[in-house]
Amino acid sequence: MHSFLCLTLLFIPAVFGAAYERPKPILEFPFSENLDDDGNYQLYWKPNKTHVTFEVHVKTRGYVGFGISPNGKMYPADIVVGWIKDGKTYFTDRHSKGHSEPVIDRSQDWTLLHGEENEFGTILRFTRKIETCDDDDITFSDEAMRIIYSYHPDDPETETGSMPWHGVKRHGTKSIYLMSANSVPEIEDDVRTVDILNGNYHIPPVKTVYHCRVFSLDALGKKHHMVKPLLNQRMPLMSTICLYTNVLQCTGNTWELITTAMKYKTPQNRVVIPFSDGKSAHGPFYFPKNIGMPIGEPDDDAVYILETHYDNPTELTDMIDNSGMRITYTPTLRQYDAGLLTIGMKVGSHHIIPPFEEDFINEGFCTEDCLRQGGPST
Ligand SMILES: *[C@@H]1O[C@H](CO)[C@@H](O)[C@H](O)[C@H]1NC(C)=O
Repeated sequence: MHSFLCLTLLFIPAVFGAAYERPKPILEFPFSENLDDDGNYQLYWKPNKTHVTFEVHVKTRGYVGFGISPNGKMYPADIVVGWIKDGKTYFTDRHSKGHSEPVIDRSQDWTLLHGEENEFGTILRFTRKIETCDDDDITFSDEAMRIIYSYHPDDPETETGSMPWHGVKRHGTKSIYLMSANSVPEIEDDVRTVDILNGNYHIPPVKTVYHCRVFSLDALGKKHHMVKPLLNQRMPLMSTICLYTNVLQCTGNTWELITTAMKYKTPQNRVVIPFSDGKSAHGPFYFPKNIGMPIGEPDDDAVYILETHYDNPTELTDMIDNSGMRITYTPTLRQYDAGLLTIGMKVGSHHIIPPFEEDFINEGFCTEDCLRQGGPST
């Protein structure tokens, strides 16, 4: 399982300085997330001790759906639906009873604060108590919460009447830490971004593929601190994506470099950013303000490997991927370097699960010796 298949190996300069246009929230919100890949659904939010307040900007003049779901699907879920018609905002607290139109809750616990349509589309601002004590609502917790969203170009006919189905494209899910990051650390004014992307990779029609791309951050010229990693885009087949760097001197020709880089794709390699699929949360994450993950150190971080694992069980043929990571970094070094501890079971040929087990637990151990080697010398 841990063997990997590297199909294309190219030495690619990373794309510096890209940015996407987003509508600005009306109020100040510390957190924001682009919920779909096309920038059609922007979420801004702000938790306090008792409530979470949201503002959504959605590219539609029809209805907008927003919800919290334990499994990322429409059922079960705590949902609000809103739209603006003839200058009036309609907004209801609902829940789903299946994969069909959500029904209106008996207890209306989400409160509309503002609704308007502008050039971008529809804006709704609403708030809800963290805990409502209504069985049809889901309590906001410190864990990653699955946000679900939908929208439609048309308004429903009546407030309680049937809503046109959003269709397969105009909905989705994203995992977000709504509560845990109660304040965003200040970040430096001199931050810039760099994109490390899969470059429209054509995913081969096989069940599982590990694709690697090798990048250089040589253009940075010196050590910088990453302050915020972000999964730039996600495509449906993506299972995990991981950025490694290694301890090579970056000399010699590219092929030599790449083969050595691949040979070193072992525990000696330093994981810089790991992301698993959309089911785990990927933002917003900021390093604490006195800590940064080192990138671009000329002597040891010269080679970066972006490894993407695709699951393609039905062997689709026309899948193109340009997902990857956006790194926000600063040349102003922070007090401490961040490190990453990877723990888990190594899966190999000695790893045997007896047949007919319904449930089987593996245990892995980190010895003190080993941990000490990886830790800072004190
Ligand atoms: C928290 O936010 C809600 C909704 O905006 C507001 O009514 C409440 O007063 C806020 N509480 C505090 C302590 O700021």
